[in-house]
Amino acid sequence: FGRPWIFIRGVPSMNFLPPQGPLEVAFAGRSNVGKSSLINALVGQRGLARTSNTPGRTQELNFFVPEGYSGEGHDLPPMALVDMPGYGYAQAPKDQVDAWTKLVFDYLRGRATLKRVYVLIDSRHGIKKNDEDVLTLLDKAAVSYQVVLTKTDKIKPPAVPRLIAETLEKIRKRPAAYPEVLATSSEKVEGLDDLRRAIGETVGY
Ligand code: GTP
Ligand code: MG
Repeated sequence: FGRPWIFIRGVPSMNFLPPQGPLEVAFAGRSNVGKSSLINALVGQRGLARTSNTPGRTQELNFFVPEGYSGEGHDLPPMALVDMPGYGYAQAPKDQVDAWTKLVFDYLRGRATLKRVYVLIDSRHGIKKNDEDVLTLLDKAAVSYQVVLTKTDKIKPPAVPRLIAETLEKIRKRPAAYPEVLATSSEKVEGLDDLRRAIGETVGY
């Protein structure tokens, strides 16, 4: 994660996906769970992915790559980070929510270069029904994923190991789940090295 990352494409529907090349790592989760903030914290660039207090901020699949690759011939970036619209946001117009959910589900199910999905779970809320639906979709599609708790600064420190253990127990029998749960705080810059290492091992970056 040494070099600057740049935004290369916002994808409003499956027709606009970039050609498959670099391995992709995607960040999925309920609206407002902290996906965009976590990407910024990971790369150490505050304004890279747009964040907001208001759920429904990220409305496209946003692709980020390390700077300095032409994208031509063999000079492809080694990997891409993909920020996703959140699911489970009931306040937006139903058509729009349906479109985002479809885009998220279609991409998660059908992208050969998608190497791993990080499914973010808010530490205060734990795994909800719509998270379960996404995990089940990933299990069925045999897409590897790892659960990452976010906003650990919002719960008491002793509650963190307990929550990790409970979450691990909930996903234990899921075939595509990586058997380790990470805990992060983008705000307090905690747990990010573990996540960087996990991503590095996954894509060899
Ligand atoms: P959508 O794009 O709308 O689905 O949201 P998102 O999952 O990308 O969340 P985003 O990163 O925009 O963050 C949502 C809110 O949570 C913002 O107000 C962030 O400042 C806040 N937030 C994100 N990460 C943390 C964290 O680690 N700790 C705390 N306390 N707040 C956080
Ligand atoms: Mg976002």
